[in-house]
Amino acid sequence: MKKPAIIEDAILHVRDRLKGDSSGHDWRHVERVYRMALRINEVERGDELVVALAALLHDVSDYKLNGGDVEAGPREARAWLESQRLDAPRIAHIERIIATMSFKGAGVASKMDTLEGKIVQDADRLDAIGAIGIARAFAYGGKMGRDIYDPDIAPTMHRSFDSYRANQSSSINHFHEKLLLLKGLMNTATAKKLAEHRHCVMLEFLNEFDAEWKGNA
Ligand code: ADP
Ligand code: NI
Repeated sequence: MKKPAIIEDAILHVRDRLKGDSSGHDWRHVERVYRMALRINEVERGDELVVALAALLHDVSDYKLNGGDVEAGPREARAWLESQRLDAPRIAHIERIIATMSFKGAGVASKMDTLEGKIVQDADRLDAIGAIGIARAFAYGGKMGRDIYDPDIAPTMHRSFDSYRANQSSSINHFHEKLLLLKGLMNTATAKKLAEHRHCVMLEFLNEFDAEWKGNA
């Protein structure tokens, strides 16, 4: 079936917007999230246009990469959707999904309240775990000048978004501070099932990393 024109336009817009990103927030990340969100939506049956557009626009301006502005992403998505004349309730919904999507620390609740939001959040979180999640964690860490691992710094279970975002610890710590928690935070049955295997892939990787680090493998 042919895609609606607004989806075709969103794809072109986001490809252009994320050109040159090397932090794991590139167009291919968005494309995977978009496809996964549509796949989950086949089972969950939310508003497909909202799911597709929220997935496509969710990383147009990430606070982690734009100097810390958490409002820029949802604001930029709204401006683009208004330029496309999407209806106001859908624009407000997509803006709210993008504002709520991000992980904010192990001890910080960030509950998505609509089905469409839950679907897109699951798709984004699935792309942060498993083999691709491992690749993205080290791409992001390298981009941000993080150590691969520093055994002198223990992982922290952040109790506030501010302490989570100020954190500078190693990419290996990021697995304990976020990535290994995502399996338990999935919203939909489809994502919960996929997360099981991806979680095991990360555990296996971390075991192997530890064994090699200690000279045991
Ligand atoms: P979220 O908005 O929930 O952070 P993203 O789509 O922005 O989700 O994806 C975050 C990606 O960035 C993940 O792949 C994650 O591994 C990586 N990342 C974020 N913070 C760190 C960090 N401190 N160390 C290593 N990787 C990180
Ligand atoms: Ni993302």
